[in-house]
Amino acid sequence: MKFDKPAGQNPIDQLKVVSQPHDRIDGRQKTTGTAHYAYEWHQQAPNAAYGYVVGSAIAKGRITALDIDAAKNAPGVLTVITASNAGALGKGDKNTATLLGGPTIEHYHQAVALVVAETFEQARAAASLVQVTYRRDKGAYSLTEAKPTVTQPPDDTPDKNVGDFEAAFAAAAVKLDATYTTPDQSHMAMEPHASMAVWEGDRVTVWTSNQMIAWCRADLATTLKIAPENVRILSPYIGGGFGGKLFLRSDALLAALAARAVQRPVKVMLSRPAIANNTTHRPATLQHIRIGTDSAGKITAIAHDSWSGNLPGGTPETAVQQTELLYAGANRHTGLRLATLDLPEGNAMRAPGEAPGLMALEIAIDELAEKAGIDPVEFRILNDTQVDPANPQRPFSRRQLIECLRTGAEQFGWKDRHTTPGQVQDGRWRVGIGVAAGFRNNLLEKSAARVHLDADGKVTVETDMTDIGTGSYTIIAQTAAEMLGLPLEKVAVHLGDSSFPVSAGSGGQWGANTSTAGVYAACIKLREAIAAKLGFDPDQAQFSDGKITSGTQSANLAEAAANGRLTAEDSIEFGDLAKQYQQSTFAGHFVEVGVDSDTGEVRVRRMLAVCAAGRILNPKTARSQVIGAMTMGLGAALMEELAVDTRLGYFVNHDMAGYEVPVHADIPEQKVIFLEDTDPISSPMKAKGVGELGLCGVGAAIANAVYNATGVRVRDYPITLDKLIGSLPDVV
Ligand code: MOS
Repeated sequence: MKFDKPAGQNPIDQLKVVSQPHDRIDGRQKTTGTAHYAYEWHQQAPNAAYGYVVGSAIAKGRITALDIDAAKNAPGVLTVITASNAGALGKGDKNTATLLGGPTIEHYHQAVALVVAETFEQARAAASLVQVTYRRDKGAYSLTEAKPTVTQPPDDTPDKNVGDFEAAFAAAAVKLDATYTTPDQSHMAMEPHASMAVWEGDRVTVWTSNQMIAWCRADLATTLKIAPENVRILSPYIGGGFGGKLFLRSDALLAALAARAVQRPVKVMLSRPAIANNTTHRPATLQHIRIGTDSAGKITAIAHDSWSGNLPGGTPETAVQQTELLYAGANRHTGLRLATLDLPEGNAMRAPGEAPGLMALEIAIDELAEKAGIDPVEFRILNDTQVDPANPQRPFSRRQLIECLRTGAEQFGWKDRHTTPGQVQDGRWRVGIGVAAGFRNNLLEKSAARVHLDADGKVTVETDMTDIGTGSYTIIAQTAAEMLGLPLEKVAVHLGDSSFPVSAGSGGQWGANTSTAGVYAACIKLREAIAAKLGFDPDQAQFSDGKITSGTQSANLAEAAANGRLTAEDSIEFGDLAKQYQQSTFAGHFVEVGVDSDTGEVRVRRMLAVCAAGRILNPKTARSQVIGAMTMGLGAALMEELAVDTRLGYFVNHDMAGYEVPVHADIPEQKVIFLEDTDPISSPMKAKGVGELGLCGVGAAIANAVYNATGVRVRDYPITLDKLIGSLPDVV
């Protein structure tokens, strides 16, 4: 199905099942431990051997000697895989560094060997016997040091200029010119990267934990130099991904190589301390923001430049992309600068671009509002735009940022905020509140699905879409149930298998809208097939209560499959509506913090997100996405930071003792409000993404609340107590 005109009235609009707060249909499996994760396919891959990854001890250089004899002779060891015995390997499109390194070393903890043994303990013990000798080369590990050397944008991401920023900024009545920094961050999914592989002849089956089945299949086939048809990827349950599992990673490749070598199933899990440096991370940014307004507080000039680093061939963190669209202003500039660094590979982490970009931009807006003497909520409303500022003929499909901010201000008690910082005390705590706008684009990707109707009247959906903890199973079941007039219990959903039609996958918050739209398209075809089989006019037929009806004519759906399963398959393909209209999602984030007057410890007290994110397909799973994202935003604001060893080139705090993320005790009252935002431009579902929106802006709202509480402006994340303690006002 081609989607190139705004959606009209369609069966989803009934909202008998869609938009209802159904519990997760996979909830029972998850809570009873019967949902199998990547490392747990014991029946399907019995007698698996265990692989243990040996990571490089240097960041850049060359292996000069690699002695695996002692490891090979250790108890229980079956083989040791290295680049010199693995055979010729290709490299997938989506990997920057090779997944099995050697002799060249591109980053710290790059896999250089896999020890395969009968037990995990034997593999781990033998891994310590692998002797690697390195020649260490000089690498670049500091973004701050590299910054002055990078003056030009990457070839494929030129600067964007509208009007004359420099002249307008020079003439502005009120100006802000400030620099903000965000650190490297690690996804820290609860489930580590893990894979099990089995070969049958020249075909490999890999159970893995991966967000994008088709990408993983294509890149594994390329890397193994075999046909994609000979690779089957299964990833039906995933314990969190956040972008860290978008790509083929070393666990899947090494499990496949090892299983081929030992001719039996092999399972490989990355140990927690290996993940930060072996896999991808969100790159650190240095962001320079300049904004000028006229005397009434209207933005006349806005510029945002961001520096980030990556390995050769890597891409920049696109931290300026929200600045192109969030506020009005005739004169604009955005630019990305990419430094070559020899740290581990930087790549997508939840809301890449906007998440770190808004951490900077939305502090800048708070600072500018104060300089202009305008309330920060009103300042944002004053500078709203309903069109793409660089292309005013191009409207937003829907844009309710003002409503998000107004509703949030009302619900949060914004009018009680003290404009002058440092005025509110509660015992030893300085209390403040802050606001930030949330913004994330709505991305559209082709997505396909297959649906079956069986003689028992049940419908089964198959698509390679994944559920990374987001609720995909449930919203897909709701979609099929709505389309076919069935209760939810009559729909089964099978996901995460490369033998199913290729979906949009789980990334960039596009999964919910696009994968359900693909199921919608397949269900339209199934409705036609049912109508044809039972002699109904498909345009007149109604589907409800397990029946197809038209006028006085009626039949049970099951009858259509009485002589055998009825199957339909289709995809949703998006036309150029995304060119004609800017499609984005919006939020108002409000936060109250307390800052300890003596220690500078920050405790978040209350959080509110008001979201306009299209039709909400399931308010319960959507709320879970948003409160999870808000929690991640709290971590980004106050805790999360991969500490870089700039001498040796690696992330030092590479486990959950050293890399702090919020725990339950850090999380206060969280409230989420979804505005009515049915958007016929986005898809037949009229939905958009929401899972990343919940993160975008949260960090800055916390930073702004800390400023309101203390009068201390921290522009360098995370806002740890050492950045506050020397500047806190005296307790009265
Ligand atoms: Mo998202 S960073 O595309 O999983």
